[in-house]
Amino acid sequence: MSSHSLQNSIANIIDSIEQQGYAVIEHFFNTQEINALATHAQNLQSMGQMQKAKTGLAKIETASIRGDFIHWIEDSQAHSAETYYLNAMNKLQQAFNQALFLGLYEFESHFAIYPPGSSYQKHLDQFIGKQERKISSVLYLNNQWQSYDGGELRIYLDKSDGAKFLDIKPQAGTLVVFLSSDFLHEVLPAKRERISITGWFRTRALDS
Ligand code: OGA
Ligand code: MN
Repeated sequence: MSSHSLQNSIANIIDSIEQQGYAVIEHFFNTQEINALATHAQNLQSMGQMQKAKTGLAKIETASIRGDFIHWIEDSQAHSAETYYLNAMNKLQQAFNQALFLGLYEFESHFAIYPPGSSYQKHLDQFIGKQERKISSVLYLNNQWQSYDGGELRIYLDKSDGAKFLDIKPQAGTLVVFLSSDFLHEVLPAKRERISITGWFRTRALDS
């Protein structure tokens, strides 16, 4: 994408986060960039480099809580498609720090592939007693996602009212960003394979 449209998207994200604590941006990356990331995720899968995701600090493997397979992105060994993603997220991190004074210091991210029928139950992205994860992000890599494919990200807008939620289609190029401490969310089961990259902007472990 051109740096102009990236700057625009980042400005929109900052505004939305300030106003409502979350942001949904369509076409954050263009089709070519998304396809490079999706192809890379599928290659990782066929090379056996996507692992069954585990849950929480105890790292319990619980298919009933989440059914996805993940691959952590390593800065030092980043593939060109990953580098592109990491650079954009780094710009976003700088913008968050300038506008919101969050003291974000690290970014961690992984690819996720949900096989058809799998889901991730309602959860918060902060582990109990740990607040390093300040902002969550999810980028979707699924071309031509249809409503009947399901697989929405359901974000609960009010922690104490389960009836207030927003469903977001995991459409290629859509980026969702939200304050990690404030929003319960879940992944609904999909009829087809669902690919995404989840990333967290973090503060230093000791000063949170
Ligand atoms: C997660 C998560 C949401 C999604 O990985 O913690 O909530 O839409 N992912 O993939
Ligand atoms: Mn989550």
